[in-house]
Amino acid sequence: MLLHLQTWQEVEAYLAKSTAIIIPIGSTEQHGPNGLIGTDAICGEAVGRKLGETTGTLVAPTIAVGMAQHHLAFPGSMTLRPSTLIAVVKDNVESLARHGFTHFYFVNGHGGNVAPFSSAFSELYAESSLSRPGNRPPIRCVLRNWYETPKVKAISRELYADQEGSHATPSEVSLTWAVYPQTVKHMKMEPKVAPRGTFTDAADYRRNFPDGRIGSNPDLASIEAGQRLWDAAVADLADDLASFVKLKA
Ligand code: NI
Repeated sequence: MLLHLQTWQEVEAYLAKSTAIIIPIGSTEQHGPNGLIGTDAICGEAVGRKLGETTGTLVAPTIAVGMAQHHLAFPGSMTLRPSTLIAVVKDNVESLARHGFTHFYFVNGHGGNVAPFSSAFSELYAESSLSRPGNRPPIRCVLRNWYETPKVKAISRELYADQEGSHATPSEVSLTWAVYPQTVKHMKMEPKVAPRGTFTDAADYRRNFPDGRIGSNPDLASIEAGQRLWDAAVADLADDLASFVKLKA
C-alpha cells in the first residue's frame, strides 16, 4: 500500500486500524563504475515497498536525496546538508503525526544518513520533552539499514566475503539489478578489489577512491543474488517491524 496511490478517505480508514508507516530512504550518489546513481534510494525503496506489501503497512514516498557530501566530486551525485536533512525528516514525520501516525519505520539504503536521522529523531523527541505533557502526540521512530539485517549479512558473506567492501558493494548492485534488470553492466574492475580507507570531504574521497568504490568488487553482482538479498531483507525486517509496532509510542 503506497501512500501516494491512496485517497485521503483510504488513509483515514487505514489510520482506524494502524498508525504505523514505512518510509524508504536512500541517497542519490555515484556508486562506482557499474553502479547506478540511484542505488541507495532504489534499494531502500524496493525493500521498503515489499515490506509494506508483505505486512499490509502503508509506505510513504521515498526520501531519495540524503546526506552524501563526500560523493560530490563525481558527476550526478546530490546531497542535502546534514542540517537540511534533519529538517526534511522532521517535517515529513510531523506532517504524518498530525494525522495520527505514531510509529515511523525508516528503511535505509545509505550509511551517510544514519547520523542525521539519529539527530532528527532526537530533535523530534526533544520537542515532546520540552513541551507541556500531553501537548504533543507521542511518536516513535526507528531506522533500519536493509544491508545490515542478519540474513542479508549472511548472504553477502557467503557470496562475496572480502570483496563485499563498504561502498558500491556487489550486494547493493545486485539488488538494483533485481529491481531494474535492464541496467545490468559487467566490466573489468581495476584494481579488482577497490582500496579501503577513510575520507573527509568530496575532494579527499575522490583522491582516495578514484573510481568511487571502497573495498568492493561489484562485477560479482548478479540478478539472482539481488533477488535473494531482497527477500532476505524483507523477511528479517517483517519480524522486526512486527515487534516495533507493538512498542508504546
Ligand atoms: Ni550505497
